[in-house]
Amino acid sequence: MTKLTILSIVTASVLLATGCSDETKKAAADTAKATSQTVAAAANDVKVSAKQVVDAAKEKASAVGDAVAQKASEAKEAAADAVESAKEAVAPKEQSTESAASSAVDGKAVFAKCVACHGQNGKQKALGKSNIIAGQSADEVVEKLKAYKAGTRNVSGMGMTMKAQVSALSDAELEAVAGYISTL
Ligand code: HEC
Repeated sequence: MTKLTILSIVTASVLLATGCSDETKKAAADTAKATSQTVAAAANDVKVSAKQVVDAAKEKASAVGDAVAQKASEAKEAAADAVESAKEAVAPKEQSTESAASSAVDGKAVFAKCVACHGQNGKQKALGKSNIIAGQSADEVVEKLKAYKAGTRNVSGMGMTMKAQVSALSDAELEAVAGYISTL
């Protein structure tokens, strides 16, 4: 009986030991699992915070980029404004130069070229052929002079002679001389 008792004690302790060892294994496995979860969680945390840093950096970079783009477009607008106001400053000067030029054209001075054929007072038939120009209205004379300049007027076969007289004259000069003729 003693032998049997010892045997059962041994068996029991073996069983116990085996059970213990299973539990230990399980505990070890659990610990390992928990540890690896903790490590994974920690790694994840590192990942997340790294991602946050990267995102923050990206945001910063794009904010800086936006600011630069904004500044660039502001500069562009300012430059465009400057060009526009420079244009405006120049434009009135151009206009006043133009009107000064046309009012400065002396009809009497231009008529000096015409005197040889039309006479001092415009009462002479040019080359014995033309109509008398004195007494005609300024509008009428301008219209005829522009037609000679364009080569479309030829009353007595001398249209080319008159074209040669007026082709070098500007509209302002034609208007000025017509205005003078209308006073003769
Ligand atoms: C070389 C001579 C000559 C000179 C210089 C001359 N003309 Fe004439 N002009 C003529 C002749 C010729 C005609 C007729 C042309 C035709 O056959 O249509 C004429 C016609 C005209 C007419 C049209 C008259 C009408 O009622 O039919 C006008 C206006 C005129 N001349 C103005 C001028 C003016 C202004 C100038 C100076 C810028 C000028 N002429 C210089 C010879 C001249």
